[in-house]
Amino acid sequence: MSGDITVLLGQRVADALAPLGVEITPDEALIRPSTRPGADYQCNVAMSLGKKLGRPPRELAQAIVDGMAAPEVEAPEVAGPGFINLALRTDWLAARLSSLDDRVGVVPAAEPRRFALDYSSPNVAKEMHVGHLRSTIIGESLLRLLRFAGHEVVPHNHLGDWGTPFGMLIEHLSELGWSGDHTIGDLNGFYQEARKKFDADPDFADRARLRVVALQSGDEPTLALWRDLVEESTRHFAKVYELLDISLTPSDIYGESFYNPYLAEVITEMEAQGITAVSDGAVCVFPPGFANRDGDPLPLILRKRDGGYGYPVTDLATVRYWIRDRGMTDLLYVVGTPQAQHFQMVFAASRMAGYLGPGNTAVHIGFGTILGEDGKTIRTRAGGTLKLVDLLDEAVQHAAALVKERSSLDADEQAEVARAVGIGAVKYADLSGDREKDYTFTWERMLATEGNTSVYLQYANARIHSILRKAGESAPGEIVITEPAERALALKLAQFPTAIAAAVEGYAPHKLCLYLFETATAFTSFYDSCPILAATTPEPVRRSRLALAVLTSTVLTRGLGLLGIEAPTRM
Ligand code: ARG
Repeated sequence: MSGDITVLLGQRVADALAPLGVEITPDEALIRPSTRPGADYQCNVAMSLGKKLGRPPRELAQAIVDGMAAPEVEAPEVAGPGFINLALRTDWLAARLSSLDDRVGVVPAAEPRRFALDYSSPNVAKEMHVGHLRSTIIGESLLRLLRFAGHEVVPHNHLGDWGTPFGMLIEHLSELGWSGDHTIGDLNGFYQEARKKFDADPDFADRARLRVVALQSGDEPTLALWRDLVEESTRHFAKVYELLDISLTPSDIYGESFYNPYLAEVITEMEAQGITAVSDGAVCVFPPGFANRDGDPLPLILRKRDGGYGYPVTDLATVRYWIRDRGMTDLLYVVGTPQAQHFQMVFAASRMAGYLGPGNTAVHIGFGTILGEDGKTIRTRAGGTLKLVDLLDEAVQHAAALVKERSSLDADEQAEVARAVGIGAVKYADLSGDREKDYTFTWERMLATEGNTSVYLQYANARIHSILRKAGESAPGEIVITEPAERALALKLAQFPTAIAAAVEGYAPHKLCLYLFETATAFTSFYDSCPILAATTPEPVRRSRLALAVLTSTVLTRGLGLLGIEAPTRM
């Protein structure tokens, strides 16, 4: 049985429709939450179905209600043009909550999928920038959400570690006399130096081009320098991942170089299928439906005129590898929206080549830009590119000031909490808005203790733990719902599986964020009107309210965990 109440009710409606000769899925029953007095949900199916069947919607709605066997709801009512109002029975709700464990009703997928998840994917010899930060944070949350929902997920980090820039970098490296025991230090600086030299010195540019050839043909000294470069960068990325509590490890790296041996094969296969064309000396595919401003078909370039391979064919090889060689069913790419067209074309070409079959999906999970308070791409005060590590350090400092104001913890504990709060705030700011949109980065809003922020959720959770510590002899007991605020909280808690399903299906962590915020808000209202430990609260009520508090904390902790955010028990 699904833990998602909308699916459960949808099934009841579907069962009531079956004898009328109508087959629908629970989803198609269109069960939506309702804010009408006396209704928790509303079923909208009679309106759309009535039209299709040529039956008055109210009459159809009445027929559904008459035939509906649903022990979990009070007598359903037809309203308006043909809505069905559904109110859960309060005793059913209470019993359901009492039966939940720490999965809070989420049942693992009956038919698990196998996802290959491309996220983070920074470039070697460049500092990770805030765009990679977004990919890393969103990807990590999707990894956790999909796994929690019962799917298999293999993460892979598509490092930019190959191609023409590396000729330039390696040549520069070798001329500097770099030996393995040095660190590159400021990776961005190193990259910029090489770039400058490349533009200013034609001889260097020639040597750099020869280096690309040497690299691609496997010249050992060149490869050795390349490996140093990759290792040094990987160490830098690992530091960021550790700071952010990201699951990616060095063994999840499948950089562009990994696919290099497959590129020629991919092109040969596609040529043999007759789906390529030569245009201006370059081998291309023209997936239908893509055109430039003048209406000319757009090519996906597989091999450049000079024989070099590029980013597009590497991604075709990536699709082929994860589907064909690794047996994945679905491919997810967490990459900024500027690459939307690239991915649409790669997916279309992969379908043409048969690398993606009818049972496979490939989804570009795009996201917008992080803006500074001036509305432009975020920068340092001096106007330079913001380093990720500096940004995270600053987050922790801001959080430390906030924690200090409110906390009675000792200095070490405060530092731990500040880390959880600061890093959590950066992550939550990234996750709580619709990912496709740009968002403005402001410390003040991110670290606000009221509103839809992680700090608010963390404090709500810590408050519950503090109540539990004070509860002394009283232990959580059977849940009995009498007060409206108890019922409102209970309903929210029972909707956890619905929120998880929405976040998973839409690859949309912000839906989970909003749900958690609403849950914390419902808890605050409950706590304001339903005293838990007050002397006037009699024992069975106290135990029931404690149980509601514990479940709220379970939901908040689990939910934050799925977003990759810690939930300290003391703050
Ligand atoms: N390294 C690329 C960048 O920084 C992102 C790679 C995304 N993944 C992919 N399969 N193309 O823009």
